[in-house]
Amino acid sequence: MPSKTLYETELGKAYCGDSLEIMRSLRKGSIDLVVTSPPYALHFKKEYGNADQSEYVDWFLPFAEQIKHILKDDGSFVLNVGGAWTPGAPLRSLYHYRLLLALCDTLGFNLCQEFFWYNPAKMPAPAEWVNVRRIRVKDSVEYIFWLSANSNPKADNSRVLQEYSPDMRRLIKRGVKNTVRPSGHNIKTTFAADKGGSIPPNLIECGNNESNSYYIKESKRRGHKIHPARFPAALPSFFVRLLTAPGDVVLDPFAGSNTTGWVAESLGRKWVAIEKNRQYALDSQLRFHDKLDVVPTNGQKALF
Ligand SMILES: C[S@@+](CC[C@H](N)C(=O)[O-])C[C@H]1O[C@@H](n2cnc3c(N)ncnc32)[C@H](O)[C@@H]1O
Repeated sequence: MPSKTLYETELGKAYCGDSLEIMRSLRKGSIDLVVTSPPYALHFKKEYGNADQSEYVDWFLPFAEQIKHILKDDGSFVLNVGGAWTPGAPLRSLYHYRLLLALCDTLGFNLCQEFFWYNPAKMPAPAEWVNVRRIRVKDSVEYIFWLSANSNPKADNSRVLQEYSPDMRRLIKRGVKNTVRPSGHNIKTTFAADKGGSIPPNLIECGNNESNSYYIKESKRRGHKIHPARFPAALPSFFVRLLTAPGDVVLDPFAGSNTTGWVAESLGRKWVAIEKNRQYALDSQLRFHDKLDVVPTNGQKALF
């Protein structure tokens, strides 16, 4: 049992410390899902620091090795990384592709699916290429790699169904005839059966519009800095629903303000959060003042 427990809730435990060290003390095969967003290889560093692009893979692999060790056989590792620009040039860095290749080729993870997080509220950057010279456009997506140790991790997309579009609702009402589309796809009458909602795409659209939570208000009142790179709750919510069942254990080894733990608790999952910055970790406890009754869901139906 790691000794650096900072707080506990009904379903979870938050540790303050280096996740590499703390994960080493977690039991092999004890975690159903790791959802996390480590510091990205940004040229202009956030206040919590990050490894440079050229060192990023070497920095991250030891963490990923531990993650593989503590994941259950049918568990998943969901990794959010943002892209970066090559310093001084209007060119993209390849660090996140190198990372993905190393995770799969060196550590033996499988890539189950890649997702894209579209954040319409992202600021245009780098200003030199986008706003001043106008030779690049706004970078508004981040990468989310869904990885697993075996080729068939636990997953159920019926837990993340979205509301049907008005067109689909009309089709369900009217029914369809057996037909072949110009693309060659066979459309059968069962296409228009009501299956409770539409299957979501691998593009997740959500901004970070958390402004009214107790965490934000109380952090401000205490004069504390709000974590500068929080997940929108809809993001971990999507993967916690898709990849776990109530009672399963979710870990975030770069927990920041512990959005993941808060979402997991609200969805009835157990959780473990590790954050090395003591002030972030302490303030993250404020999240648990609000029990999210309905977890924000990127248009998904509230299915648990
Ligand atoms: C991108 S932020 C995560 C934010 C989080 N997703 C949220 O919703 O608040 C990355 C966090 O990883 C933390 N961190 C960096 N290295 C760490 C380590 N070795 N162990 C634990 N936490 C670490 C940083 O202090 C930072 O808060």
